[in-house]
Amino acid sequence: MKVLVFDTAAEASAKAFDYFGEALGKGASVFGLATGSTPEKLYEMMTQSDIDFTQATSINLDEYYGLSGSHPQSYRYFMEQHLFNKKPFKHNFLPNGLNENVEEETAHYDQIIAENPIDLQLLGIGVNGHIGFNEPGSDFEGKTALVDLTTSTIEANKRFFESVEDVPTKAYSMGIKSIMSAKQILLLAFGESKAEIIKAMVEGPVTTDVPASALQNHDNVVVIVDKAAASLLS
Ligand code: GLP
Repeated sequence: MKVLVFDTAAEASAKAFDYFGEALGKGASVFGLATGSTPEKLYEMMTQSDIDFTQATSINLDEYYGLSGSHPQSYRYFMEQHLFNKKPFKHNFLPNGLNENVEEETAHYDQIIAENPIDLQLLGIGVNGHIGFNEPGSDFEGKTALVDLTTSTIEANKRFFESVEDVPTKAYSMGIKSIMSAKQILLLAFGESKAEIIKAMVEGPVTTDVPASALQNHDNVVVIVDKAAASLLS
């Protein structure tokens, strides 16, 4: 893994933006995208730039189970507000959180990923090391699945909801195997709350206890962090 440390999240986001531009310049056309507060600045930079995604496809990592795409806390809504409404793509794929036929939805999403191999995958990281919604214990060989969110993830995400009871307890998530199949991966993490998990991901053992540690086995990963998130790295 290549680790790049920046003084601020804004500088780190600008670097991530450069990677997107570079990838597009080299012919990348499929981008794996992430939600959460971490990529917000990057998406803002994209919408304020002349970067052109009109010939590109996006595939998001995950979606809450039970929320429609028009629900303000759904990841589709987040992506539309932060990026897609201002920066059109040719296609935008996210799991359909309302599909109760789990087998059908997961097979369909895996087919989308198989038909659109991801050139550049953007990731954030949960404080427990989750990527997408692949919680600790997730199989590194896993594909798209309906996953149970851990208490720590529900707690971390409750800030976006009126109360903790409103946070969905399940989500559809791309699996670690699909994430690992991307040609290049960019993981962003900002702030002191991510310092411990960044150390575990970069310097700790490769273990399903820390899902993001799987990335140590990928040959083209760039970790872009601010000083605070890098503070425990030796
Ligand atoms: C969510 C998302 C992840 C994201 C993580 C961190 O649970 N499913 O894709 O990386 O939270 O979020 P944040 O960037 O807000 O810290």
